[in-house]
Amino acid sequence: MSKKINMDKYFAPDLSQARKRTKKIIEEVQFNLRDAHQKIGFNKTYLIHTYGCQGNEADSETMAGILELMGFIKAISEEESDIIIMNTCAIRENAENRIWGELGRLKAYKRRNPDLILALAGCMAQEENVVKKVLKTYQHVDLIFGTHNIHKIPEYIETAMFAKERVVEVYSTEGEIVENLPKTRNHKFKAWVNIMFGCDEFCTYCIVPYTRGKERSRSKEEVIAEVKELVELGYKEVTLLGQNVNAYGKDKIEDGYTFGDLLRDINKLQIDRIRFTTSHPHDLDKKTMEAIRDCEHVMPFFHLPVQSGSNKVLKKMNRHYTKESYLNVLNQLKEIVPGISVTTDIIVGFPSETEEDFLETLDLVEKADFEGAFTFVFSKREGTPAAKYEDLTPEEDKKQRLYRLNEKVNAGYLRGTTRFLNQTVKVLVDGVSKHNDEVLAGYSEHQKLVNFKGDPSLIGQIVNVKITVAKTWFLLGELVD
Ligand code: 5AD
Ligand code: SF4
Repeated sequence: MSKKINMDKYFAPDLSQARKRTKKIIEEVQFNLRDAHQKIGFNKTYLIHTYGCQGNEADSETMAGILELMGFIKAISEEESDIIIMNTCAIRENAENRIWGELGRLKAYKRRNPDLILALAGCMAQEENVVKKVLKTYQHVDLIFGTHNIHKIPEYIETAMFAKERVVEVYSTEGEIVENLPKTRNHKFKAWVNIMFGCDEFCTYCIVPYTRGKERSRSKEEVIAEVKELVELGYKEVTLLGQNVNAYGKDKIEDGYTFGDLLRDINKLQIDRIRFTTSHPHDLDKKTMEAIRDCEHVMPFFHLPVQSGSNKVLKKMNRHYTKESYLNVLNQLKEIVPGISVTTDIIVGFPSETEEDFLETLDLVEKADFEGAFTFVFSKREGTPAAKYEDLTPEEDKKQRLYRLNEKVNAGYLRGTTRFLNQTVKVLVDGVSKHNDEVLAGYSEHQKLVNFKGDPSLIGQIVNVKITVAKTWFLLGELVD
């Protein structure tokens, strides 16, 4: 028999609300675990499956932190687990299809252990059509919560566990900025630090402004305090996270403190490496470029999504720049920070993209001299404007375009690795290589994967490696003093 839905706090997502942006000042609140929730997890275990971007990885660390504060410990397998949370991604249809498959697969565990709590969280939970489908056809899912209310997990678990009712609570508009959230971090020397949430760009193909809500920056004091604590714990690298970090602080217009200022302040904390992702070209300013140049701990690497090289397509995507203005910003960045490595994101097969438009993209890739790119075929996302655009390009042509684009992009990867041949680079050692356990792997300052022979005791340290071989996807080298 299917479980009843708890109607006391039933909130399903609503796209028309998610589209709205208000001038409301976002409040900052502090997370505190209520006494009643502190022992719920005693003798119980959890697992979190994370899909998609670094934002989700960071959210999963928060979910784990909250669960552990409630007494849960991480399970060793799905069979053993009392709670399984699926932290999902909605960016493209194939990401979602994978998760539908996984949800189906987990039904077997639920049959064996009816007390298992299966939760759907993350960006898919923010989608109206997804929640309808789960409620109707995936009755073994007990709990659905979205991206804005992770801090309320304790209440949801209490209801799902003790009232034995299905819980659905997804807010369509963003709530507060919640501070003091506990985190169980996945790495001991590299950490994610959210600096802002949400996105106000509304690129016409993208679901993120609906699933992550209005752009809102954390206070610089909170961000700096978090990085300070990481330094004290021995962390070597932080990656500052936001959908558009270049817009940091612009929602708090009054003080003019923006991303470039934040980079300079974090640089003073003496963390070895500062990275950030992701950026929007029209918010990238000179102040940020100069901060990258002046701050020795900010890494010489920039991911600057361009999406297309056709001005017609860029306009339909609502990107607010042209091929020419993008190249201008890029050239300015390369002038101010010589040697910086730049990568990008590109979508092919956007509705109405012609062969000529695509050739503009290939031309831009050539001119920009990218050292890597994530390339995608356009995926229709229900509720976004582009989902309604007429799309006459056959799928086969889109695949061909992706193939042709990737050939050019791969040549860029190889140019990007070859320039380090015979040079000594600094590598933060991540671990042992997936392919050979005598070999260590890590990333250089320019974000190149480097493999070299060395002792596993070097994991977590920054070492010098002389590059001897450059391949498309990685570098090989020898440890030097
Ligand atoms: N179809 C294909 N790619 C998309 N992206 C975002 N939305 C879509 C979509 N509907 C890509 C963009 C973005 C990256 C994170 O994902 O290139 O920069
Ligand atoms: Fe999506 Fe555009 Fe926002 Fe990036 S900037 S998250 S592509 S809407």
